[in-house]
Amino acid sequence: MKILLLSCFSLLCLGLYCCTSPTDYTTNTDTLSQTDSSNDDSGYYQEPYRLAYHFSPEKNWMNDPNGLVYYQGNYHLFYQYNPTGTRWGHMSWGHAVSKDLVHWEHWPVALEMEDSTMIFSGSAVVDQHNSSGLCQAPDSSCLVAIYTAHTDSIQNQAIAYSHDRGRTWTKYKNNPVLDEGMKDFRDPKVFWHEKERKWVMVVALPREKKVRFYESHNLIQWNMMSEFGPEGFVDGIWECPDLFELEVEGTGQRKWVLLVSYNADLTGSAMQYFTGDFDGKSFQNDNTNDLVLTLDYGRDFYAGVTWNQVPDQRRLLIGWFNNWMYANDIPTSTWRSAQSIVRELQLKEFPEGIRLIQRPIPALQALRQAHKHEENITIKEGDNFLSLENIQGKQLEIIAEFVYEAIDTPSEANALASEFGIKVFKGDKQETIIGYDVASQSLFVDRTQSGDTTFTEGFVAKTVGLMPAEEGTIKMHIFVDRSSIEVFGNDGYIVMSNRIFPDPQKDAVDIYTTGGMVTLKSLDIWELQSIWSAEADQSLVSDKP
Ligand code: FRU
Repeated sequence: MKILLLSCFSLLCLGLYCCTSPTDYTTNTDTLSQTDSSNDDSGYYQEPYRLAYHFSPEKNWMNDPNGLVYYQGNYHLFYQYNPTGTRWGHMSWGHAVSKDLVHWEHWPVALEMEDSTMIFSGSAVVDQHNSSGLCQAPDSSCLVAIYTAHTDSIQNQAIAYSHDRGRTWTKYKNNPVLDEGMKDFRDPKVFWHEKERKWVMVVALPREKKVRFYESHNLIQWNMMSEFGPEGFVDGIWECPDLFELEVEGTGQRKWVLLVSYNADLTGSAMQYFTGDFDGKSFQNDNTNDLVLTLDYGRDFYAGVTWNQVPDQRRLLIGWFNNWMYANDIPTSTWRSAQSIVRELQLKEFPEGIRLIQRPIPALQALRQAHKHEENITIKEGDNFLSLENIQGKQLEIIAEFVYEAIDTPSEANALASEFGIKVFKGDKQETIIGYDVASQSLFVDRTQSGDTTFTEGFVAKTVGLMPAEEGTIKMHIFVDRSSIEVFGNDGYIVMSNRIFPDPQKDAVDIYTTGGMVTLKSLDIWELQSIWSAEADQSLVSDKP
């Protein structure tokens, strides 16, 4: 509780914020309309604002994703969980399992708070050859979780293991395994370093805005190797680091990426990343130490970490879809918070340097239902092109490609748009805008009039990220899910995740331009199916505990 109280306290001191945080479509040839189920909030995962295809706990509070690991056919998602209430507290590890990273099955709480020790964020690994001696037989494998044991006076790193593929967990009897006597020392991410054949841990020193690297051969004895930071964004506190190697697309070159979450008084929660080299001992930043590389330009993506030991080497990221600035206050009923959709990471070379690219995992396409496609339509100011055709929806995937190209003989009649984009959850006095501002070459999401914005100060926002057009083309890949918007711009060059709390009755979709015209080169809209049903689909995770 301490960290939260401290950061809440400083926010309050500044006096700025109160820190507390399927429908049936009928399709005909050119319309896609939804049968309204928004009044039905009695069913499973049908409460107001409940997300339909994002992970959220059945009830109570959730924050960071933890312990992401793939083991014997199952992707595990543990998460910071309060089993006793809808606000932060009693931190334990909740648990869910998936075969496809889209459909989730709830498993029992894995690690519970005991006495006055809370189970804070951390990671999990497959101890392939029983390096810890904690697995059942000499050369057998087992899951080992590495987490922060938190009390009011100290944070240290502890481990727990499972002999039944993650169903039940035992805390190691000689915990902690890493204790530096520090009050703020948390969120260990452990991974197997193949080249040096050892375990590496990256862990945060939040108030010093540093991460530390440790090594181990048995997950029990840890040896400190080096520190990194403060660099990049150095306001606030640093939390939940991650470190991994990725190929720079199409070059064969490999680089290391260090992810750091930061929580600052004025801006709230956000994430940055560094690219560079890691020789098994220390991390060297490729860029100048004041360059800030933003992972997500929205207000609601925090504590994002990646899965360990994924079989096809994909680097898969999920993040907490919330912001400490108002996380405890978001207007939901029996549960609070969600995780983002899962994204696949890549590095790519751009004129400005190597940057992280994020794409929604293809498995999400399995949720696609009714579909509408349009192409090569010129949109002029005031057209209300889509509203006229009665497009609406609360759980949608939208892929839009706009082209704005100078016309040989410009005139008032064919002036180009200064801004264009898509409005969702649109109705009388309500809209969320996913737009592009031509002059500043930036993508934005405007949630100023997105619905309920009054539950906390500081929720109203227009989030913006620089995104130059690629040959006059702007691509928006948008996921709308009842109370959330995730936008992937220009094939993952930038991403923006924002929560919204709209009136579900007002859910029209509209394409708009201001100041002139734009060509909608192509548009695809799908209704997305819910992943939740009261009866667990046993074909997904047949070995439920
Ligand atoms: C980040 C964080 C972590 C901590 C956990 C506590 O959101 O503050 O640093 O381990 O949440 O719930």
